[in-house]
Amino acid sequence: MRKMTQANLEAAFAGESQAHVRYLIFAEEAKAKGLKNLARVFEAFAYSEYVHAKNHLKAMENVEDAVANLDKAIAGETYEIDEMYPKMHDEAIKAKERRAATSFRWAMETEKNHAEIYRKFRVLIASGRDKSIGQKFYVCSVCGYTVESEPPEVCPLCSAGKAMFREF
Ligand code: FE2
Ligand code: FE2
Ligand code: FE2
Repeated sequence: MRKMTQANLEAAFAGESQAHVRYLIFAEEAKAKGLKNLARVFEAFAYSEYVHAKNHLKAMENVEDAVANLDKAIAGETYEIDEMYPKMHDEAIKAKERRAATSFRWAMETEKNHAEIYRKFRVLIASGRDKSIGQKFYVCSVCGYTVESEPPEVCPLCSAGKAMFREF
């Protein structure tokens, strides 16, 4: 693939991914205000942007190998933990941007959970043991903190109660 096409796909993937997430958030806000139909518009369009993002990604990389996907996921999480978030968090603290600093810290700490769990599953998947991944996963809807098996009474990262955890 030509470099220009690759760069265009990367930019389009980033843009569509952002639109997907932004529309889902706009849908939540619309729902909270009782604007059910507007929420439905945002949700439908968010899904459409997801389809665009998926097509762009598949045009630029192979996503069919589960072990390779886990390796990419681990590399992404590791970069965020070791390089991206520590720097962003420090800069936000220095600038006294507290809300941004908290958001960076919550993400940085959560990515450590993700990397650890992905590493464990990589071993299972590489040896054909998908069925060994049996437990439930719980994600804090306030900070994203992720745990296996059981939700904690109180989120160790943001102190939200058990009811704020979403089951997967
Ligand atoms: Fe789109
Ligand atoms: Fe993550
Ligand atoms: Fe939390």
